[in-house]
Amino acid sequence: MIYLAPMQGLTEITFRKAYYKVFGLSGIDMAISPFISLTHGSLANAYKKIKDVLPECNAESLPIIPQILGNEVPQFIDMANRLGEIGYDEVNWNMGCPVPKVAHKKRGSGLLPYPDMVDDILSKVLPKVSTRISIKIRLGYYNPDEVFDLVPVFNKYPLANVVVHPRIGLQMYDGDLFLDVFAQVVSTIKHKIIFNGDICSVDDYVKMKLLFPQITDVMIGRGVVVNPLLPLEIKGQNICNYNDKYAEFVTLLFDEINARNVPEISKLRKTKEYWQYFAQNFDLSEEDRRGVLLMTDLYDMQRVIVEIVSKADRLCMPNCR
Ligand SMILES: Cc1cc2nc3c(=O)[nH]c(=O)nc-3n(C[C@H](O)[C@H](O)[C@H](O)COP(=O)(O)O)c2cc1C
Repeated sequence: MIYLAPMQGLTEITFRKAYYKVFGLSGIDMAISPFISLTHGSLANAYKKIKDVLPECNAESLPIIPQILGNEVPQFIDMANRLGEIGYDEVNWNMGCPVPKVAHKKRGSGLLPYPDMVDDILSKVLPKVSTRISIKIRLGYYNPDEVFDLVPVFNKYPLANVVVHPRIGLQMYDGDLFLDVFAQVVSTIKHKIIFNGDICSVDDYVKMKLLFPQITDVMIGRGVVVNPLLPLEIKGQNICNYNDKYAEFVTLLFDEINARNVPEISKLRKTKEYWQYFAQNFDLSEEDRRGVLLMTDLYDMQRVIVEIVSKADRLCMPNCR
């Protein structure tokens, strides 16, 4: 099974809808939504976040598991039950976010050095929620060995699964994966593990499978945004018109972005954000790559991007890190 990773700002409904329209369920089987914070800030913000997972907005889209971020027990229970009421039977708890302002408040990966706190939260939340709870973790915040004190805690509870990104919080999204530590987690945890991290090509996937043949499920984030066809390639699907399919996806994604009720400048920024990922998939001159970023007209920029992805040669080994 291939999961689309939650990526705040990138894999919200606009992306998931466009993806589903072009590829259906032939590549990605399931997506985890970008996190909904338990401390919402403003009410408008809370509404915006919930909207991303409302079933009526997700009807023609990839199936999703909503994700929450926080450490507040009453809000956790309340949100999981609310999500249960609108139809979800699983909620994912984010224990991986490395952003310092999140982690320093013992949220996201900032919870990983505190196994007693994790234990306390799970012991209070699980008996009170109607949904299953899965978790998404790193191996630690300061040190990958932190996971060894967490595994016995996780093993006490009936978790739906555990997504593991084998980095530590301090690494953010770079640096080597701690695959030796991950191997020890695989052999000691009693839950189903979903592997996440640095799968950017079929080769990366094959290497991971050789190391961990027992892992059946993977989660891919940046690799899919760089190359939306990667899940189909991993599944061995025959893709004869690669650039056309890529361009179709990008065109639909831009339609979704343009249909949003936000200022044009936000649409321009969003288009640029995606371009930084798409550009990593193709063999482009620095001039082409930067040229798009310097454009100021939204529709011109989108037209040029679609032209480029329709024609450009792919890089054999895209770098999505
Ligand atoms: C821009 C960005 C936003 C992210 N947002 C989330 C998020 O909302 N929730 C989460 O659990 N992980 C989030 N992540 C982490 C990804 O889900 C994933 O764990 C990480 O990118 C490693 O996987 P990859 O190498 O396949 O991208 C984010 C990562 C990036 C780069």
